[in-house]
Amino acid sequence: MSVVVVNEIIALRKIIKEYKMQGKTVALVPTMGCLHDGHKSLMQKAHSIADITVASVFVNPIQFCPGEDYDKYPRTLEADKIVAESAGVDIIFAPSVNEMYPGLEKFSDLTMVAPPYELTDIMCGKSRVGHFDGVETVVTKLFNIVQPDFACFGMKDIQQLFLIKKMVKDLNIPVEIVPCPLVRESGGLALSSRNKYLTDEQRKIALSLSKALFAIRDLCNAGVRETKKLFDTGLTNLDKNVELEYLEFVNYDTFKPVDTVEQPTICALAARVGGVRLIDNVVLEV
Ligand code: PAJ
Repeated sequence: MSVVVVNEIIALRKIIKEYKMQGKTVALVPTMGCLHDGHKSLMQKAHSIADITVASVFVNPIQFCPGEDYDKYPRTLEADKIVAESAGVDIIFAPSVNEMYPGLEKFSDLTMVAPPYELTDIMCGKSRVGHFDGVETVVTKLFNIVQPDFACFGMKDIQQLFLIKKMVKDLNIPVEIVPCPLVRESGGLALSSRNKYLTDEQRKIALSLSKALFAIRDLCNAGVRETKKLFDTGLTNLDKNVELEYLEFVNYDTFKPVDTVEQPTICALAARVGGVRLIDNVVLEV
Protein backbone atom coordinates (compact mmCIF):
# COMPACT_ATOMS: atom_id res chain seq x y z
CA MET A 1 0.00 0.00 0.00
CA SER A 2 1.45 3.37 -0.93
CA VAL A 3 1.63 6.18 1.59
CA VAL A 4 -1.18 8.76 1.59
CA VAL A 5 -0.43 12.38 2.49
CA VAL A 6 -3.20 14.12 4.41
CA ASN A 7 -3.01 17.84 5.23
CA GLU A 8 -6.29 18.43 7.00
CA ILE A 9 -7.42 17.36 10.46
CA ILE A 10 -11.00 16.61 9.38
CA ALA A 11 -9.87 14.40 6.53
CA LEU A 12 -7.42 12.53 8.75
CA ARG A 13 -10.03 11.93 11.44
CA LYS A 14 -12.42 10.54 8.85
CA ILE A 15 -9.86 8.04 7.54
CA ILE A 16 -8.82 6.95 11.03
CA LYS A 17 -12.41 6.59 12.17
CA GLU A 18 -13.02 4.15 9.33
CA TYR A 19 -9.98 2.09 10.28
CA LYS A 20 -11.02 2.06 13.93
CA MET A 21 -14.52 0.92 12.98
CA GLN A 22 -12.86 -2.06 11.29
CA GLY A 23 -11.17 -2.80 14.64
CA LYS A 24 -7.71 -1.75 13.43
CA THR A 25 -5.05 -0.45 15.83
CA VAL A 26 -3.14 2.75 15.06
CA ALA A 27 0.44 3.77 15.88
CA LEU A 28 1.64 7.36 15.59
CA VAL A 29 5.20 8.55 14.94
CA PRO A 30 5.42 12.31 15.49
CA THR A 31 8.27 13.96 13.54
CA MET A 32 9.37 17.29 12.16
CA GLY A 33 10.38 15.65 8.87
CA CYS A 34 13.76 15.60 7.13
CA LEU A 35 13.51 11.91 7.83
CA HIS A 36 16.59 9.75 8.38
CA ASP A 37 17.23 6.20 9.56
CA GLY A 38 16.51 7.20 13.18
CA HIS A 39 12.97 8.24 12.26
CA LYS A 40 12.71 5.22 9.99
CA SER A 41 13.44 2.86 12.88
CA LEU A 42 10.52 4.38 14.82
CA MET A 43 8.24 3.94 11.81
CA GLN A 44 9.33 0.32 11.38
CA LYS A 45 8.61 -0.30 15.05
CA ALA A 46 5.19 1.35 14.71
CA HIS A 47 4.44 -0.77 11.63
CA SER A 48 5.39 -3.93 13.54
CA ILE A 49 3.03 -3.27 16.47
CA ALA A 50 -0.08 -1.75 14.89
CA ASP A 51 -2.29 -2.32 11.87
CA ILE A 52 -2.06 1.29 10.66
CA THR A 53 0.96 3.58 10.97
CA VAL A 54 0.56 7.34 10.88
CA ALA A 55 3.64 9.59 10.77
CA SER A 56 3.20 13.29 11.33
CA VAL A 57 5.55 15.70 9.58
CA PHE A 58 5.19 19.14 11.09
CA VAL A 59 7.86 21.68 11.95
CA ASN A 60 6.23 22.94 15.12
CA PRO A 61 6.86 26.69 15.47
CA ILE A 62 5.92 26.88 19.15
CA GLN A 63 8.77 24.61 20.26
CA PHE A 64 11.47 26.82 18.72
CA CYS A 65 12.90 29.54 20.93
CA PRO A 66 13.67 33.02 19.59
CA GLY A 67 16.87 32.91 17.52
CA GLU A 68 16.61 29.17 16.83
CA ASP A 69 16.49 27.56 13.39
CA TYR A 70 12.70 27.46 12.78
CA ASP A 71 12.91 29.27 9.43
CA LYS A 72 15.84 27.28 8.09
CA TYR A 73 14.79 23.89 9.53
CA PRO A 74 14.97 21.51 6.51
CA ARG A 75 11.59 20.78 4.90
CA THR A 76 11.86 17.80 2.56
CA LEU A 77 8.38 16.29 2.22
CA GLU A 78 8.97 14.59 -1.15
CA ALA A 79 12.03 12.73 0.16
CA ASP A 80 10.20 12.05 3.45
CA LYS A 81 7.42 10.27 1.57
CA ILE A 82 9.93 7.80 0.15
CA VAL A 83 11.48 7.07 3.57
CA ALA A 84 8.07 6.73 5.22
CA GLU A 85 6.73 4.44 2.53
CA SER A 86 9.80 2.20 2.74
CA ALA A 87 9.20 1.89 6.50
CA GLY A 88 5.58 0.79 6.09
CA VAL A 89 3.88 4.08 6.95
CA ASP A 90 0.27 4.21 5.71
CA ILE A 91 -0.51 7.88 6.28
CA ILE A 92 1.65 10.99 6.51
CA PHE A 93 -0.12 13.79 8.33
CA ALA A 94 1.50 17.01 7.12
CA PRO A 95 -0.63 19.93 8.28
CA SER A 96 0.12 23.59 7.64
CA VAL A 97 0.88 25.88 10.57
CA ASN A 98 -2.53 27.45 10.07
CA GLU A 99 -4.22 24.06 10.23
CA MET A 100 -2.59 23.31 13.58
CA TYR A 101 -2.70 26.83 15.01
CA PRO A 102 -5.40 28.89 13.34
CA GLY A 103 -4.59 32.55 14.05
CA LEU A 104 -0.82 32.20 14.27
CA GLU A 105 -0.17 35.67 15.65
CA LYS A 106 -2.13 34.76 18.78
CA PHE A 107 0.24 32.15 20.24
CA SER A 108 0.05 33.74 23.64
CA ASP A 109 -3.69 32.94 23.67
CA LEU A 110 -3.10 29.25 23.07
CA THR A 111 -3.90 26.74 25.82
CA MET A 112 -0.58 25.09 26.54
CA VAL A 113 0.45 21.82 28.17
CA ALA A 114 3.48 22.38 30.37
CA PRO A 115 5.78 19.94 32.19
CA PRO A 116 6.79 20.62 35.82
CA TYR A 117 9.47 23.26 36.24
CA GLU A 118 12.02 21.04 38.05
CA LEU A 119 12.07 18.63 35.11
CA THR A 120 12.69 21.36 32.57
CA ASP A 121 15.18 23.40 34.55
CA ILE A 122 17.83 20.81 33.62
CA MET A 123 19.47 19.64 30.42
CA CYS A 124 17.78 20.90 27.22
CA GLY A 125 14.97 22.69 29.06
CA LYS A 126 17.41 24.99 30.78
CA SER A 127 18.70 26.68 27.65
CA ARG A 128 15.55 26.16 25.56
CA VAL A 129 13.07 27.91 27.82
CA GLY A 130 9.49 27.04 26.81
CA HIS A 131 10.66 24.38 24.34
CA PHE A 132 9.03 21.47 26.15
CA ASP A 133 5.77 23.41 26.59
CA GLY A 134 5.71 23.65 22.80
CA VAL A 135 6.54 19.95 22.42
CA GLU A 136 3.94 18.76 24.93
CA THR A 137 1.29 21.01 23.43
CA VAL A 138 1.80 19.81 19.87
CA VAL A 139 2.10 16.17 20.92
CA THR A 140 -1.16 16.45 22.91
CA LYS A 141 -2.83 17.96 19.86
CA LEU A 142 -1.49 15.13 17.68
CA PHE A 143 -2.72 12.55 20.20
CA ASN A 144 -6.17 14.14 20.18
CA ILE A 145 -6.26 14.35 16.39
CA VAL A 146 -5.02 10.81 15.68
CA GLN A 147 -6.12 9.03 18.90
CA PRO A 148 -3.44 6.39 18.44
CA ASP A 149 -3.17 3.17 20.45
CA PHE A 150 0.64 3.51 20.38
CA ALA A 151 3.07 6.37 19.86
CA CYS A 152 6.78 5.81 19.16
CA PHE A 153 9.45 8.20 20.46
CA GLY A 154 13.22 7.94 20.13
CA MET A 155 15.69 7.73 23.00
CA LYS A 156 17.79 10.27 21.10
CA ASP A 157 15.60 12.98 22.68
CA ILE A 158 15.74 11.37 26.09
CA GLN A 159 14.35 14.30 28.09
CA GLN A 160 11.48 14.66 25.62
CA LEU A 161 10.70 10.94 25.92
CA PHE A 162 10.71 11.15 29.71
CA LEU A 163 8.42 14.19 29.74
CA ILE A 164 5.98 12.68 27.23
CA LYS A 165 5.74 9.48 29.29
CA LYS A 166 5.04 11.58 32.38
CA MET A 167 2.51 13.76 30.58
CA VAL A 168 0.57 10.73 29.35
CA LYS A 169 0.53 9.30 32.87
CA ASP A 170 -0.31 12.58 34.62
CA LEU A 171 -3.09 13.48 32.18
CA ASN A 172 -4.48 9.94 31.68
CA ILE A 173 -4.01 10.09 27.93
CA PRO A 174 -5.03 6.66 26.56
CA VAL A 175 -1.93 5.88 24.48
CA GLU A 176 0.98 3.53 25.03
CA ILE A 177 4.33 5.28 24.62
CA VAL A 178 6.87 3.04 22.90
CA PRO A 179 10.51 4.07 23.49
CA CYS A 180 12.82 3.28 20.56
CA PRO A 181 16.65 2.96 20.65
CA LEU A 182 18.93 5.78 19.53
CA VAL A 183 20.27 5.17 16.00
CA ARG A 184 23.84 6.23 15.12
CA GLU A 185 25.96 6.51 11.99
CA SER A 186 28.66 3.83 11.76
CA GLY A 187 31.20 6.33 13.18
CA GLY A 188 29.03 6.87 16.26
CA LEU A 189 27.41 10.24 15.46
CA ALA A 190 23.76 10.21 16.56
CA LEU A 191 21.53 10.65 13.50
CA SER A 192 19.79 14.01 13.49
CA SER A 193 18.03 16.20 10.95
CA ARG A 194 20.40 18.96 12.09
CA ASN A 195 23.47 16.94 10.95
CA LYS A 196 22.58 18.33 7.50
CA TYR A 197 23.96 21.71 8.63
CA LEU A 198 27.43 20.28 9.39
CA THR A 199 30.38 20.68 7.02
CA ASP A 200 32.71 17.65 6.61
CA GLU A 201 35.14 19.26 9.05
CA GLN A 202 32.42 19.92 11.64
CA ARG A 203 31.13 16.38 11.26
CA LYS A 204 34.57 15.09 12.30
CA ILE A 205 34.53 17.38 15.34
CA ALA A 206 30.98 16.22 16.17
CA LEU A 207 32.19 12.62 16.33
CA SER A 208 33.89 13.48 19.61
CA LEU A 209 30.45 13.82 21.27
CA SER A 210 29.68 10.11 21.04
CA LYS A 211 33.35 9.35 21.67
CA ALA A 212 33.12 11.21 24.99
CA LEU A 213 29.90 9.43 25.95
CA PHE A 214 31.33 6.01 25.05
CA ALA A 215 34.46 6.76 27.10
CA ILE A 216 32.21 7.60 30.06
CA ARG A 217 30.25 4.39 29.58
CA ASP A 218 33.46 2.32 29.36
CA LEU A 219 34.82 3.89 32.53
CA CYS A 220 31.54 3.30 34.34
CA ASN A 221 31.56 -0.32 33.18
CA ALA A 222 35.12 -0.57 34.53
CA GLY A 223 33.75 0.31 37.97
CA VAL A 224 34.15 4.10 38.26
CA ARG A 225 30.82 5.37 39.59
CA GLU A 226 31.44 8.98 40.73
CA THR A 227 29.88 11.24 38.14
CA LYS A 228 32.57 13.90 38.78
CA LYS A 229 35.25 11.51 37.48
CA LEU A 230 33.06 10.36 34.61
CA PHE A 231 32.39 14.01 33.71
CA ASP A 232 36.13 14.76 33.57
CA THR A 233 36.69 11.82 31.23
CA GLY A 234 33.95 13.13 29.00
CA LEU A 235 35.57 16.56 28.84
CA THR A 236 38.97 15.10 27.95
CA ASN A 237 37.47 13.27 25.01
CA LEU A 238 35.66 16.26 23.52
CA ASP A 239 37.31 18.02 20.61
CA LYS A 240 38.51 21.48 21.64
CA ASN A 241 36.25 23.05 19.02
CA VAL A 242 33.14 21.66 20.68
CA GLU A 243 31.22 24.27 22.66
CA LEU A 244 29.68 22.22 25.48
CA GLU A 245 26.28 23.36 26.75
CA TYR A 246 25.80 20.61 29.34
CA LEU A 247 26.97 17.14 30.27
CA GLU A 248 24.64 15.80 32.95
CA PHE A 249 23.92 12.60 34.81
CA VAL A 250 20.33 11.89 35.84
CA ASN A 251 18.51 8.89 37.23
CA TYR A 252 16.84 6.93 34.41
CA ASP A 253 13.48 6.69 36.21
CA THR A 254 13.21 10.06 37.96
CA PHE A 255 15.45 12.40 35.94
CA LYS A 256 16.91 13.69 39.20
CA PRO A 257 20.64 14.57 39.01
CA VAL A 258 22.97 11.95 40.53
CA ASP A 259 26.50 12.14 42.01
CA THR A 260 27.07 8.40 41.95
CA VAL A 261 25.88 5.85 39.42
CA GLU A 262 24.03 3.35 41.61
CA GLN A 263 20.98 2.77 39.44
CA PRO A 264 20.41 3.04 35.69
CA THR A 265 21.58 6.55 34.82
CA ILE A 266 21.32 8.71 31.74
CA CYS A 267 24.44 10.57 30.75
CA ALA A 268 23.32 13.25 28.30
CA LEU A 269 24.97 16.18 26.59
CA ALA A 270 24.20 19.09 24.32
CA ALA A 271 26.89 20.96 22.45
CA ARG A 272 27.41 23.31 19.57
CA VAL A 273 29.69 22.47 16.70
CA GLY A 274 30.16 25.43 14.38
CA GLY A 275 26.89 26.89 15.68
CA VAL A 276 24.93 23.66 15.12
CA ARG A 277 23.30 22.43 18.33
CA LEU A 278 23.56 18.66 18.77
CA ILE A 279 22.38 16.32 21.55
CA ASP A 280 23.37 12.79 22.46
CA ASN A 281 23.19 10.41 25.40
CA VAL A 282 24.04 6.95 26.69
CA VAL A 283 22.40 4.90 29.41
CA LEU A 284 24.79 3.76 32.14
CA GLU A 285 23.79 0.38 33.56
CA VAL A 286 25.06 -0.98 36.86
P1 PAJ B 1 12.18 15.09 15.43
O1 PAJ B 1 13.43 15.75 15.90
O2 PAJ B 1 11.88 15.08 13.97
O3 PAJ B 1 12.18 13.62 15.99
C1 PAJ B 1 11.06 12.79 15.80
C2 PAJ B 1 11.29 11.51 16.56
O4 PAJ B 1 12.42 10.83 16.02
C3 PAJ B 1 11.60 11.74 18.06
O5 PAJ B 1 10.91 10.78 18.84
C4 PAJ B 1 13.10 11.55 18.13
O6 PAJ B 1 13.57 11.12 19.39
C5 PAJ B 1 13.29 10.48 17.07
N1 PAJ B 1 14.69 10.46 16.60
C6 PAJ B 1 15.38 11.47 16.03
N2 PAJ B 1 16.66 11.09 15.79
C7 PAJ B 1 16.76 9.80 16.24
C8 PAJ B 1 17.84 8.85 16.30
N3 PAJ B 1 19.05 9.14 15.85
N4 PAJ B 1 17.57 7.64 16.82
C9 PAJ B 1 16.32 7.33 17.29
N5 PAJ B 1 15.28 8.18 17.27
C10 PAJ B 1 15.49 9.40 16.75
O7 PAJ B 1 11.36 15.22 18.30
C11 PAJ B 1 10.72 15.89 17.49
O8 PAJ B 1 10.90 15.80 16.14
C12 PAJ B 1 9.65 16.88 17.90
O9 PAJ B 1 9.98 17.43 19.14
C13 PAJ B 1 8.23 16.24 17.95
C14 PAJ B 1 8.13 15.12 18.99
C15 PAJ B 1 7.83 15.71 16.57
C16 PAJ B 1 7.21 17.34 18.36
O10 PAJ B 1 7.22 18.37 17.45
